[in-house]
Amino acid sequence: MSASDDSSPVSSDPVVAADPGAPDPDLFDKIVNLSKRRGIVFPSAEIYGGFRSTYDYGPVGVLMLRNVKDAWWRSMVQKRHDVVGLDASILSPPAIWEASGHLANFTDPLVDCRSCGSRHRLDKLEDPDTCPTCGATGQFTDPRQFNLMFKTHAGPVEGAGHEVFLRPETAQGMFVNFANILYTSRKKPPFGIAQIGKSFRNEITPGNFVFRTREFEQMELEFFVPPADATTWYEYWCQTRLQWYLDHGIPAEKLRLRAHDADELSHYSSGTSDVEYLFPWGWDELEGIANRGDFDLTQHAEHSGEKLEYFDQANNERYVPHVIEPAAGATRTMMAFLMAAYDEEQVNDDTRTVLRLHHRIAPYKVAVLPLSKKPDLVGPATELFSDLAETWMCDYDETQAIGKRYRRQDEIGTPYCVTYDFDSLVDQAVTVRERDSMEQVRLPIAELHAWLAERLT
Ligand code: GAP
Repeated sequence: MSASDDSSPVSSDPVVAADPGAPDPDLFDKIVNLSKRRGIVFPSAEIYGGFRSTYDYGPVGVLMLRNVKDAWWRSMVQKRHDVVGLDASILSPPAIWEASGHLANFTDPLVDCRSCGSRHRLDKLEDPDTCPTCGATGQFTDPRQFNLMFKTHAGPVEGAGHEVFLRPETAQGMFVNFANILYTSRKKPPFGIAQIGKSFRNEITPGNFVFRTREFEQMELEFFVPPADATTWYEYWCQTRLQWYLDHGIPAEKLRLRAHDADELSHYSSGTSDVEYLFPWGWDELEGIANRGDFDLTQHAEHSGEKLEYFDQANNERYVPHVIEPAAGATRTMMAFLMAAYDEEQVNDDTRTVLRLHHRIAPYKVAVLPLSKKPDLVGPATELFSDLAETWMCDYDETQAIGKRYRRQDEIGTPYCVTYDFDSLVDQAVTVRERDSMEQVRLPIAELHAWLAERLT
């Protein structure tokens, strides 16, 4: 007996694809529900009533988030001879943030509504006079500048001299290690330092699920270039980063590159473009690519007293490299991948939910499913799992009917299901079912590894 999707042969499944142009008004809720139901993202500290706007990545989500970060690292570090990696500390002294300008400038304008007590970011209000919570007009307090950095203290003594900050971006770790890396890696401009890690911002209005949270992960590159080449590299990185999202399965019509207006630019930037995704609430930022000039190295050189320059022996010239910075959010990007991949289609009388994720982003690459729980099948199926798991992240599931198991794998985006059935004991072959088409092929187990490698590499 061979596996089939539900109980009927897959080839006769009438598949009615959803209209790709029609935005689903419930997409946001569907993603939040799917995330909870399938172990992708849970609200944090839920048994204590939750801890607002913090999230935990469950067994499936932790794999997906790791894949997002691995895909970024692969493109930005592994495949480039001109980029090296770094893992800098999260706790950092005030001196860094004094030099970077964050102590003075990393603020949002905060207003309170006198009528209902709610708090808002003035620059994000549709109508700066009307409270979006209670509708009262003219009830806002004067705006106060609120610094977004989380402050704590190092060691047992609190107070001045012991204050430290949780980094609000990974970028400064790269700047303060510029000289260390220049001398130890033997790189010369143009070259980059890349880092993935947690950042913390005391956002006034976190929200939209994992889009804006107080604890999140960033994937940042600081690319150091000769000053005369900064514009060329800025344009290069804008295009390269846009292409990365396309290459990993985000459709072109949901992506755009938007140059900042002069009044939007950060204090350090002479030019910034955002890669934006069309979220259910409209276009919003996935990543910013900034031309930071020599701001960072100059500031840290002045504040630390260390020389942060490059001596170009060929031209007998000393200069402060300029920095091009593509700065992305790992958690926010994962949310965009979830939204772009989510699909529902009618299969017979059933609605099939499927995450059409790029195989590099999919949490599991392969699921091994013995057709029955009988030890005759479970033994060889678990052996097959162990063999495939040497190469790929695999799931193993022996519960419920095979059709239900296929649907569960569809919901978490597993590209291939491998079913070990009673015939497998005789013919040493398995049925491989592809997620998007639901097509099935019968393959000798001896050829399975090569067949999967061709499709998953
Ligand atoms: N070093 C520059 C920098 O940090 P940013 O635009 O503030 O630039 C870069 O942050 C990326 O980090 C954003 O494009 C976004 O993807 C992500 N990010 C920023 N704040 C976030 C938050 N509160 N929650 C989730 N992701 C965030």
